[in-house]
Amino acid sequence: MNAPLRSDPATTGPVQTGPALRVSGLVKAYGDNAVLRGVEFEALAGVATALIGANGSGKSTTLKCLIRLVEPDAGRIEVFDRDVMTLGPRDLRRFRSQVGMVWQKHNLVPRVSALSNVLHGAQGRRQGPAAWFQATAPAALRAEAMTCLARVGLADKALQRVDSLSGGQQQRVAIARTLMQRARLILADEPDASLDPQSGEEVMRLLADLARKDGLTVVFISHRMEHTLAFSDRILGLQKGRLVMDKASTATDAAELRRFFEE
Ligand SMILES: Nc1ncnc2c1ncn2[C@@H]1O[C@H](COP(=O)(O)OP(=O)(O)OP(=O)(O)O)[C@@H](O)[C@H]1O
Ligand SMILES: [Mg+2]
Repeated sequence: MNAPLRSDPATTGPVQTGPALRVSGLVKAYGDNAVLRGVEFEALAGVATALIGANGSGKSTTLKCLIRLVEPDAGRIEVFDRDVMTLGPRDLRRFRSQVGMVWQKHNLVPRVSALSNVLHGAQGRRQGPAAWFQATAPAALRAEAMTCLARVGLADKALQRVDSLSGGQQQRVAIARTLMQRARLILADEPDASLDPQSGEEVMRLLADLARKDGLTVVFISHRMEHTLAFSDRILGLQKGRLVMDKASTATDAAELRRFFEE
């Protein structure tokens, strides 16, 4: 299963341009539940990084801390050399609008078109709601949104209502919206969790390609081991509040990952 899914490194190998994301000393507790106890890692542009760990090990908390949806108790977070922890409310809002978040359950607006939903991605960089809707968006924005939809393979569904699309197509619209944000960092928390095997694989392949081919920084969580292996270049393992594994995906296999979960 793994071998055919894995991209050919000769043509799609990661373009390493230096750390896009640097995290150190990340600490977060909920009451006496010390979830993150000094998490440290870097993520590179052009690389798809997978974060693995048992249920409740703090994977989602880690991703949320990166954009301070969850406020860390301590730690240093740098994204593209910006110190995230010192951002005031306004700069934080602006910063978040530049990070693409893809969740298990996307938060698209169901009753409007795919194109309108993608246009919402421009919200953080435009004034006024007129630009968010397909009928009133300036031509340049519409053209950009169409390019984003084409990138995820959904140009032909642009005018279709999102609630008439399949789960996999909806997830791809959510990814197109992050492209419309012009996000250079995409954080994806189980984007494949509620999708059938084929759609889940398409979504994961798209995320991996955005890193490997388009040079974005992608950090994802997936509970499907075959996806983690095939669609990441690097795997970070979270255990007892610390990162205890950091491996090239080609240097590990399903058996080793399974052992990681048993420990
Ligand atoms: N808002 C919250 N309030 C209190 N405890 C929380 C909150 N969010 C998460 N936790 C706790 O923090 C721990 C880590 O949760 P988190 O959701 O980060 O785990 P996870 O690794 O993403 O798990 P899963 O694989 O199940 O998604 C868990 O013990 C969880 O119960
Ligand atoms: Mg989670």
